Amino acid sequence: MGELRGTHVPVLLERCLELLAPALDRADDRTTVHVDATLGLAGHAEAVLATHPRTVLIGLDRDTEALAHARARLERFADRVHLVHAVYDELPEVLARLGHDRVDGVLFDLGVSSLQLDAPDRGFAYAQDAPLDMRMDQSAGTTAEEVVNSYSHGELARVLRVYGEERFAGRIASAILRERERHRLTSSARLAELVRESIPAPARRTGGHPAKRTFQALRIEVNRELAALETALPAALDALSVGGRAVVMSYHSLEDRITKQVFAGRARSTGPVDLPVELPGTGPMLRLLSRGAELAGEAEVQANPRAASVRLRAAERIERDGGTSTATTRRAVRERPGRVAGVTGPAGAGAPGGSDEVRRDMSRPAGDGGGTTSQGEGR
Ligand SMILES: C[S@@+](CC[C@H](N)C(=O)[O-])C[C@H]1O[C@@H](n2cnc3c(N)ncnc32)[C@H](O)[C@@H]1O
Repeated sequence: MGELRGTHVPVLLERCLELLAPALDRADDRTTVHVDATLGLAGHAEAVLATHPRTVLIGLDRDTEALAHARARLERFADRVHLVHAVYDELPEVLARLGHDRVDGVLFDLGVSSLQLDAPDRGFAYAQDAPLDMRMDQSAGTTAEEVVNSYSHGELARVLRVYGEERFAGRIASAILRERERHRLTSSARLAELVRESIPAPARRTGGHPAKRTFQALRIEVNRELAALETALPAALDALSVGGRAVVMSYHSLEDRITKQVFAGRARSTGPVDLPVELPGTGPMLRLLSRGAELAGEAEVQANPRAASVRLRAAERIERDGGTSTATTRRAVRERPGRVAGVTGPAGAGAPGGSDEVRRDMSRPAGDGGGTTSQGEGR
């Protein structure tokens, strides 16, 4: 295991700490529990542990290599740290095993880490030739090689179009199938070349490296990233104590859309709309803390290009109105109701430049978030 400390800069670190602080430092000085569902190289986790001496950390990652680095980095907090090799949709089982039915903080910093992107042998990067693996957990699951060599034309085109928002998905899928007839496609460099050849020259001149969207789409498919988030996020919110807080950082419009929908669903009443009172158990269980999706400021993006596509959303668990046997008067819990309404919409809702985004550093012009699919696969 090489020395990696300092090579991964945690995104929106100060903002995450600010949002989590009230949940982790309670007035009664009790020990609090924080879940880092995407531990990675433990940049956020280290800062949380250093800031909150009474907080216990449960850190999950599906990548054993990331866990090994995180373990070394967090050594000085070892008596307050539980690191678990798990996919985050296994969170309820992990909490049960560790004997925690409630947690106070949850952080999801989605996607890949620089450890994975920069590894020359894991196939995430189109700029380096490597076997087409792309699994975050190299001990299980289907590789990108299996996907490109076994999916039908229609399946491949759907993955590229939906997860990569690739306009030329059909052409790329056709090129992959033609290649497959000659020999098995095994190398990331060859795939990148096929993609480049499939995209018309004028289109290649915009939108970054032509293979970026295809590599991201395959990575999302291989790791079932969106399905895992759809299961994990509701479970994490349900595990929050009253006053507990969740922060989610997405780097893809579909991740952000899932987050927005899950948060919005829990921030509104489930009771009949025409009743002036909240019925027992139907009140909102979340208060939204972020105004739409927050973006990184210009200075952070300059210093850390990975921050260019981040979308942060946060929420706090509240006592449910109507939780008693008598109905209670309805009250609004959203800080800005209008900004979270209309969670449905076309693909790309919640995408960069979307109307509900808030840039924290207003010196940065709107809509330059670097595209919806920019976690830097090629670096
Ligand atoms: C962006 S990195 C996190 C970086 C971290 N916040 C830090 O400061 O170092 C995302 C990490 O989440 C992990 N990951 C992604 N999807 C996961 C999932 N479904 N379950 C568990 N871990 C996951 C990846 O393996 C990666 O290490």
